[in-house]
Amino acid sequence: MKCHFDFEFEGLLERKRMRPVLVTLAPLAKLAVIVLFLQTAASSAAGQSPTPSLDFEYYRARVEPIFLKKRPGHARCVVCHAGSNNAFRLQPLPAGSLTWTEEQSRRNFEIVCRLVTPGDPTSSRLLLHPLSPKAGGDAFHSGGRQFTSQDDPDWRALADWVRNAKIHASTTP
Ligand code: HEC
Repeated sequence: MKCHFDFEFEGLLERKRMRPVLVTLAPLAKLAVIVLFLQTAASSAAGQSPTPSLDFEYYRARVEPIFLKKRPGHARCVVCHAGSNNAFRLQPLPAGSLTWTEEQSRRNFEIVCRLVTPGDPTSSRLLLHPLSPKAGGDAFHSGGRQFTSQDDPDWRALADWVRNAKIHASTTP
């Protein structure tokens, strides 16, 4: 017991002796933080492409219908994800309607945008979760492997949207 106490006491002395060293290191640490910050700022300013954005019109015309589409052997995304308690939570379809109102689509859009990394489909949860692991998707999804390959036209439409595909109001049918 005594031995233990002595040991701790030694430790305290040790820390006291350390302090001046830490004090001299502190300004250096601050400098390192500033340098890191400047580096990050410089590299984002030098990035070739502007931050990709996600287009609502494209989302509404090409992406949202995918959530309503029946794929052989699978239930439709909306069946499980309307009002779900996971991060992919869609609005419940209005009674008797086959699609969402514009206001509901905007709410869906907000939720869905959080599940993707703009510009990078293969690090986007929305694309990886329902994709077969053989095609680079997540190991498990309760809703099944809805896309067996990254060549699936619907998967490609999702990927195009994430890569910044846009529909201009004038070209919308
Ligand atoms: C049979 C029900 C069912 C269907 C159909 C279904 N899912 Fe899911 N999905 C789930 C459940 C349950 C979870 C949460 C547990 C898990 O990760 O498997 C989930 C999780 C997810 C997640 C991750 C959400 C989070 O919390 O991070 C995404 C993204 C997703 N699903 C996308 C889809 C897409 C896209 C479709 C349609 C192509 C789809 N799901 C169809 C049941 C389903």
